[in-house]
Amino acid sequence: MAQPLPFRGSVACGFLWALGNAAAPRSHGWNQRMYEWIKALHIMAVISWMAAMLYLPRLFVYHADAETGSVQSETFKVMERRLLKGICNPAMIVTWLAGIYLIYEGGWIRSGWLHGKLALVLLLSAFHGFIVRWWKAFAADKNVHSSRFFRMVNEIPALLMVGIVLLVVLKPF
Ligand code: HEM
Repeated sequence: MAQPLPFRGSVACGFLWALGNAAAPRSHGWNQRMYEWIKALHIMAVISWMAAMLYLPRLFVYHADAETGSVQSETFKVMERRLLKGICNPAMIVTWLAGIYLIYEGGWIRSGWLHGKLALVLLLSAFHGFIVRWWKAFAADKNVHSSRFFRMVNEIPALLMVGIVLLVVLKPF
């Protein structure tokens, strides 16, 4: 049955309103949109950084047991250099830059959870520094650590990640 014109008009308006909202969920302007895109970039960079920081010490575990100068040892060197320079370093830079934007644009600077998160992220960045130091030693065939050592330190980034994600998602204080 045909509906009276005013009713059809309001249905059409409602449809257009819903379409607009579906296309721009929770959007309160350009800044909000930009914030969400940068947060997505931040999470992608975090995933890449963490993947590299979990995998590099695992490569060191096997590299530590490989004979110096062997084909295996030289292959590990190539894998480690590519992973560090191609993924780990750039991902850390993008994570930091995007994170700093989120702090500024989100007005989080006085939040307690952020201070806790930054403390853990600084430890994670220090761990990155140690990875670079171990990588340099392997590249010069001067590693002094055992495979057991690298097996143990491999847990550190995983533990820091648990704390960081809980702080940023639950925001307990
Ligand atoms: C490098 C320095 C970092 C800074 C300055 C930083 C800062 C921030 C800020 C301000 C937010 C926005 C929070 C919100 O909108 O609710 C955020 C989101 C997030 N960060 Fe970081 N972050 C950093 C590193 C990390 C690391 C290393 C991880 C994980 C291991 C991480 C995981 C996340 C996640 C999962 C979110 C999304 C949270 C949500 O939307 O509920 N961040 N970060």
